[in-house]
Amino acid sequence: MKRYSLVSLILMATISMNAADITLPQPQKSGGKPLMETLSERKSARVFDTERQLSHQQLADLLWAACGYNREDKLTIPTALNRQEISIYAITPDGAYRYDAKANVLREVNSSDIRSLSGQQEFAQKATLNIAIVSDKAKMAHDIFAGVAAGAVMQNIYLWCASNGIGTVARGSFDGEALAKALELDADKRILLVQTVGY
Ligand SMILES: Cc1cc2nc3c(=O)[nH]c(=O)nc-3n(C[C@H](O)[C@H](O)[C@H](O)COP(=O)(O)O)c2cc1C
Repeated sequence: MKRYSLVSLILMATISMNAADITLPQPQKSGGKPLMETLSERKSARVFDTERQLSHQQLADLLWAACGYNREDKLTIPTALNRQEISIYAITPDGAYRYDAKANVLREVNSSDIRSLSGQQEFAQKATLNIAIVSDKAKMAHDIFAGVAAGAVMQNIYLWCASNGIGTVARGSFDGEALAKALELDADKRILLVQTVGY
């Protein structure tokens, strides 16, 4: 009986995991610069290395800092009524992925290089990482509250980058409709910001 359950579990895990999904390493939740130094160094960058990518460990740390679970059912960002209406997507040269924070997995949503849809600014189209910050109307209908939550994610990304010597800029300039299509977002989802990240 016990053996049968184990086999079923493995089967279930295999079926729910797309071959192109990326299981991230556990995020490192210690270290980094002191908060006051990090705040002193927070800034926007608009020049990025077009070749060098963040490692999977850096990606795991960054995405956890941005909008990961730091308690059983609570996030690194506050959300009104704990609605947790924000999801984040990593757009990379290898494809685009939704960050599944509970599982610590990047779920592939597009296997193509869709970086050209990351924004009008040239650096955004060539950078190796853009993070789309997406709200869900079905979870939070109040646009301002959703915007506040997206802003918290944005600042967490800025702070992680400042703490790790990585460049970033939040951007409101992108074609929301085209990008939403490429990310396979349903009608309730809205991209509020796209944030370029990189060396
Ligand atoms: C909501 C929002 C939208 C922004 N959109 C863009 C953008 O489309 N392109 C860009 O280069 N910078 C964008 N920025 C970055 C701002 O221009 C930048 O934060 C501001 O000039 C201050 O510079 P600092 O971040 O270095 O302090 C945006 C910032 C915010 C908060």
